[in-house]
Amino acid sequence: MSELNNIVLKILSNKKGILAADESNGTMTKRLDSVGVKSSPESRLKFREVLLSSEEGMKNIGGVILYDETIRQKTESGKKIPELINSFGSVTGIKVDTGAKKMVNSPVETITEGLDGLRERLEDYYELGARFTKWRAVIHINKSYPSELAINANAHALARYASLVQEAKMVPIIEPEVLMSGDHNINRCYEVTAKVLKECYKELKFHEVDLKGTILKPNMVLPGDRCSIKSNTEEISEMTLKCLKENVPPEVPGIAFLSGGQSEIEATQNLNAINKINDTNFILSFSYGRALQQGALKIWGENQEDVLNTQKIFTQRSKMNGLASVGQWLKELETK
Ligand code: 13P
Repeated sequence: MSELNNIVLKILSNKKGILAADESNGTMTKRLDSVGVKSSPESRLKFREVLLSSEEGMKNIGGVILYDETIRQKTESGKKIPELINSFGSVTGIKVDTGAKKMVNSPVETITEGLDGLRERLEDYYELGARFTKWRAVIHINKSYPSELAINANAHALARYASLVQEAKMVPIIEPEVLMSGDHNINRCYEVTAKVLKECYKELKFHEVDLKGTILKPNMVLPGDRCSIKSNTEEISEMTLKCLKENVPPEVPGIAFLSGGQSEIEATQNLNAINKINDTNFILSFSYGRALQQGALKIWGENQEDVLNTQKIFTQRSKMNGLASVGQWLKELETK
């Protein structure tokens, strides 16, 4: 088990975090569409290769989560993508769920699928070079939801997934994302996140998952995106840390937040504030998708040959989040 714990530490220690570049083809198509680039296996690889070959940008990236398509692709020079990632001392990860599907008898809620055949797929991913995995459960908030059923069914699936991943000698990222969309206030997000985390750790214990060999990927505690009452960084950081302290067992070595629709600067600023008041033994870092790639994608969309400037923007975000992961980020550094 200490082997899995070492993988966690390799990914998250020393101002490092995770690049979540595991958008499904559908999601990546939306992202590319937004900058006017036609989505294809080649264009999806091309953008990702620009980021993954940035020596400076990769200095604060301890792990990269890939999608099934990317883990099987090669760079222009014929290098396998996991080899490219390893060449920077970073660890290759893979998204293994097959998506959040509509639950029966609920108009909005979802259950994440992907358990069938997972044991065999994990063997394949290990062979391809993966050493950690991701499974994302999605929890919706509105007046009547989440239901007990959605919380329980998703926590149960996460625990079954995590136990299979540890059997395959990889580190499972446990991602129960409470969505930011809605008009709920920060207290409601706190209440739901606390309930979801409690249920997840109940199921993980029941399934005998060794928590020392896991990473939690939670949402921060935030008001809904349509809430009229905005919260400041101080309130967000205090409530997020309190929620984690009260609901995540202390054996969990590392927590890497998702950005979930926050702007790039917000995601950095909030992570920094959380680390400034962190009085736990948890490593509190990032596993950002949009908050690491948005700006870089915009520049790349304007000129796909402009590798230098695309990497420059990515490096800035990766460095800033690295500093935020130890509470050393300063707003002034963003204008440099
Ligand atoms: P965001 O940081 O864009 O929320 O993506 C993280 C992720 O991997 C969601 O599953």
